Amino acid sequence: MTLLEVKNVSKEYVPGVKALSDINFSIQQGEIVSIIGPSGAGKSTLLRCLNRMIDATEGEIIFDGVNVLKLKKQELRNLRREIGMVFQHSNLVDRLTVMENVLHGRLGYTSTIKGMFGIFTKEDKQEAEKIIQMLGLSEQINQRADSLSGGQQQRVGISRALIQQPKLILADEPIASLDPSSSRVIMDYFKDINQQMGITVLLNLHQVDVALKYSDRIIGVNGGKIVFEGLPSQVSQETIQMIYGADAEQLIMNVGE
Ligand SMILES: Nc1ncnc2c1ncn2[C@@H]1O[C@H](COP(=O)(O)OP(=O)(O)O)[C@@H](O)[C@H]1O
Ligand SMILES: [Mg+2]
Repeated sequence: MTLLEVKNVSKEYVPGVKALSDINFSIQQGEIVSIIGPSGAGKSTLLRCLNRMIDATEGEIIFDGVNVLKLKKQELRNLRREIGMVFQHSNLVDRLTVMENVLHGRLGYTSTIKGMFGIFTKEDKQEAEKIIQMLGLSEQINQRADSLSGGQQQRVGISRALIQQPKLILADEPIASLDPSSSRVIMDYFKDINQQMGITVLLNLHQVDVALKYSDRIIGVNGGKIVFEGLPSQVSQETIQMIYGADAEQLIMNVGE
């Protein structure tokens, strides 16, 4: 089943300057797909268009049968519940605990007033505990977010996305600020979330080797256009050259290691 379909999407921040140009692709339910490409290629712009953090200038985005670009306020809230977002910097509230940060992800389901006073149901709390445990953070559950390591903070960010019970998780460079070992841990969690929970995952990644290892499919972006779409096994040195242009050499060396 097709979960997401992107048709002829373009984005201009500045009139006449295309950050994205005629983007077409679809994502099947249950896939884990990585978007790779050099800095400035349009990867973040693309993810942000998908859940309407920003509005595409042209085209159609169909998520789970719904035309995302036509949604009004309440419908948009519903959409954002179904699409969890994970960022490079986990965007946690520093002074709140792990538990409180995760419960924040639940706000889409509770009335704003209740959320403001931190009133969550017993079920919400149990669900948060379950997810926190799954992400290996039980011991840190009552610690302030700013006392955690970068990798732990990212796991809180993922937990906060998961408590929404999303159909799709969008992750924008989720390991860009982490060391290789924490990166591996985080990517293994994405794989688990995908395989065990059946949640579709779309990642922006700068690290080609990681993308190849963890993804069912790769989308290569350069200059706001899709320049490659295929299986990890179809990504050759020429492909990397095409996607990264002048930046390719360094990457090819890394992949070869
Ligand atoms: N808020 C913005 N206003 C104007 N231009 C932007 C904005 N955000 C990104 N851009 C431009 O859009 C292009 C794509 O950027 P981005 O999506 O951030 O690329 P990536 O995530 O692949 O590094 C770049 O040329 C960038 O300068
Ligand atoms: Mg980016």
